[in-house]
Amino acid sequence: MSSSEFIKCEVCGAPIHSYYKFCPNCGAPVKSTIVSRRVPTGVPELDKITEGGFEKGKTYLVAGETGTGKTIFSLQFLIHGAKNSEPGIYVTIDERPEALIADTRRFGWDLQQLVAERKLVIVPVRQYFAAKMWGKEMDVIVKNIVSELSKIQKTINAKRLVIDPVAPLVTMSTTEVTWTREYIRSLIFSIEDDIKTTNLITSEVPTGENSISRFGVEEFLASGIIVLGLAKVGNQVKRTLYVRKMRWTATNPVYYTFNIERGKGIVITGYLS
Ligand SMILES: Nc1ncnc2c1ncn2[C@@H]1O[C@H](COP(=O)(O)OP(=O)(O)O)[C@@H](O)[C@H]1O
Ligand SMILES: [Mg+2]
Repeated sequence: MSSSEFIKCEVCGAPIHSYYKFCPNCGAPVKSTIVSRRVPTGVPELDKITEGGFEKGKTYLVAGETGTGKTIFSLQFLIHGAKNSEPGIYVTIDERPEALIADTRRFGWDLQQLVAERKLVIVPVRQYFAAKMWGKEMDVIVKNIVSELSKIQKTINAKRLVIDPVAPLVTMSTTEVTWTREYIRSLIFSIEDDIKTTNLITSEVPTGENSISRFGVEEFLASGIIVLGLAKVGNQVKRTLYVRKMRWTATNPVYYTFNIERGKGIVITGYLS
């Protein structure tokens, strides 16, 4: 269990699990109930910036162009959870699990072990859902996905869920923007209502466009938005992270710079100057 799940009693100083309402040592009421609702992201510096991370049970968006680190962020969030008693579900349309496991092994992350320990489930969406749901109505599709995810959630008692990317999981008709927006809205509401995990969705912003998300709806549904990007500084290109929105949290509107490091993932290095 990580130290972040413990706080100190303000009266006697004893370590208390953050979910406790009273100190088991001296009986004093625990004031910092806000701390208990935060879910660390796995990026230590980001947790400092965001008063401890994400709010439990809410949905967060990681947006950015291709190659900006959305998948690495997603996996870092799940790995951090898996190692701290918060198993996770990774829903992806991009990768076959074997390929993902091989790629991440080269990167220094052992997903296979987490899967074997039932701390992580990788859900290859096309295999899981596509065939069954082709041509079905949207509400049927959403209902089926959520019911399937709910089953998986129960098998490992998952606390975290990532959908990378959230773009329609089971249809190719991404040109139908209205349909897609309603689909994403319905999916996220159903997940928050029925599955109760803390959720991270990613959205791939088309290169060169100034939008925050692909379908222009993800940002309104999310409790927080992290925008990953690349910035040209002189003749160098730096990776940037910007907390665009974080509901009920004071955050600095600044661009942070980060590196992607083997075995660690996203490591914030400072501010963009
Ligand atoms: N070992 C590594 N060291 C540094 N950077 C890496 C390493 N492995 C991958 N990357 C970088 O990570 C990026 C891919 O990140 P990814 O999370 O897949 O992006 P996205 O999901 O946003 O498309 C690549 O652009 C690559 O440059
Ligand atoms: Mg990706």
